[in-house]
Amino acid sequence: PELKGLFDLSELEDKLRRYFNLKQVWVVAGDSETSLHTKKELGRVASEALKKAMSGNDIIAVTGGTTLALAADQLHSQVPLRGVKFVPARGGLGESVDYQANTIVSTMAKRVGAQYRLLHVPDHLGEEAYQSLMQEPNIREIVEVIRSARIVFHGIGDAMVMARRRKVREEMITAMKEEGALAEAFGFYFNKEGSVVHRTQTAGLRLEDIQDAEVVIGVAGGRSKGEAIGAVMSFGHNDILVTDEAAAKEMIANY
Ligand code: BG6
Repeated sequence: PELKGLFDLSELEDKLRRYFNLKQVWVVAGDSETSLHTKKELGRVASEALKKAMSGNDIIAVTGGTTLALAADQLHSQVPLRGVKFVPARGGLGESVDYQANTIVSTMAKRVGAQYRLLHVPDHLGEEAYQSLMQEPNIREIVEVIRSARIVFHGIGDAMVMARRRKVREEMITAMKEEGALAEAFGFYFNKEGSVVHRTQTAGLRLEDIQDAEVVIGVAGGRSKGEAIGAVMSFGHNDILVTDEAAAKEMIANY
């Protein structure tokens, strides 16, 4: 049974790679929703994928989340990567500090001897607040750095779970449901076909920055996230996906 399990994983990787037209897919055994061991393994493999993609003077934009926090804790390098710069993909989320992009950025940078910059603005901004914050030279400058990232390393969430975690208003949640929002990644909400159905006004990555980034790495697992991951992969700008067996099977069943 062990051997068969291994064979199945690479088959899942191939299927997903071809179906979503990705450059690389990693699938770890198990379900990270029910096993912390699997979730740690997902984080470890994701940190390896990031390490392989990194070079020279890269700017790397990173999102928050519990999955990426586990990846950050396991990132390592034999030599200090002094030229690399980590930045948060967007502002804070008003969620637990351990899972905010700023925290993950500083952990990653310290672990590999890289540089980092933080973004101290709330994640969700009204139009006026956004416009006036963007007049601030300091903020403008870091936002420009974020938007020029060569690598984007991001988590993926279920749309409704993330909307609640971000305290989106109830009317908005209803509207998003009606529009078929399934997934959330870097502040954008996607339907099953991968179209953006909702976005939060934020200082940070815009859709065009994701499109322009050279390497976009998505990291998420767990059976209940399968469809959400498929939705973000259908958006079509990911190069690399790191996921688990339970999510991979769910994706294949639904796409
Ligand atoms: C958030 C990211 O912090 O984490 C989102 O900004 C992502 O893009 C989410 O959807 C996933 O979180 P978790 O805890 O399920 O890994």
